[in-house]
Amino acid sequence: MERIGEPDHSPFIVGIGGTTRAHSTSENLVRTALHHAEEAGAEAKMFSGPDLMMPIYDVSDTNRDKKQQAFVDALRRCDGIIMCSPGYHGSISGHLKNALDYTQDLADDPKAYFGARAVGCIAVGAGHQGANSTLSHLREIVHALRGWPTPLGITVNSTEKRYFDSDGACLDEGLDQKLRYMARQVVVFAVMRFTARAVYPDWEVWPEYKEYFPKLRIEASN
Ligand SMILES: Cc1cc2nc3c(=O)[nH]c(=O)nc-3n(C[C@H](O)[C@H](O)[C@H](O)COP(=O)(O)O)c2cc1C
Repeated sequence: MERIGEPDHSPFIVGIGGTTRAHSTSENLVRTALHHAEEAGAEAKMFSGPDLMMPIYDVSDTNRDKKQQAFVDALRRCDGIIMCSPGYHGSISGHLKNALDYTQDLADDPKAYFGARAVGCIAVGAGHQGANSTLSHLREIVHALRGWPTPLGITVNSTEKRYFDSDGACLDEGLDQKLRYMARQVVVFAVMRFTARAVYPDWEVWPEYKEYFPKLRIEASN
């Protein structure tokens, strides 16, 4: 694929997903989407189940081991994210949520948290209801982290059929197409972001509320 992005920089996309089970459906879904992102010209890095196994996030402990640091560093420098959660009791897994809590390390970055990045969200459940509520919760989290959920979200009911073979290859053409389309949305948003920088150099910086809403500043000072 032809090189895209900035002259010295292809879009770098981070994949997050997987349960503690090897070759989990959620891991296969993200790996497939990342493969499509690479086909679209991006570089990609995957954080699967074991990479996400971290101690419960503790606000009073700022020490980071290699695994935690690698996760935070990749998110800090990435241009887009694709993530998948299994539906656990109607929402995202505690395992994934705990890893995402480490994005608090990015709170004071100019591109805070997932700021200015598109995030493709995928949810898999043993039924439609759990997958749908999980997708919805994932997108709420992305909004809280100042990311841009892609227009396309994907849900998978893992009990319906066998979606992946034992090597992780997608067996369902329709699902594969959706993952390709989502990956394309994340990569294209990254390229648009590079273009936007030329016109609005500071657009990625989250404004202070008081700067953004001068009226509130007056009210707050009274
Ligand atoms: C602790 C736990 C809770 C679960 N809760 C739900 C649920 O509320 N709704 C649902 O549809 N599936 C639920 N499941 C099933 C998983 O979402 C489903 O098996 C999914 O395919 C797991 O993905 P994996 O293949 O990536 O491990 C639960 C599974 C576990 C282990």
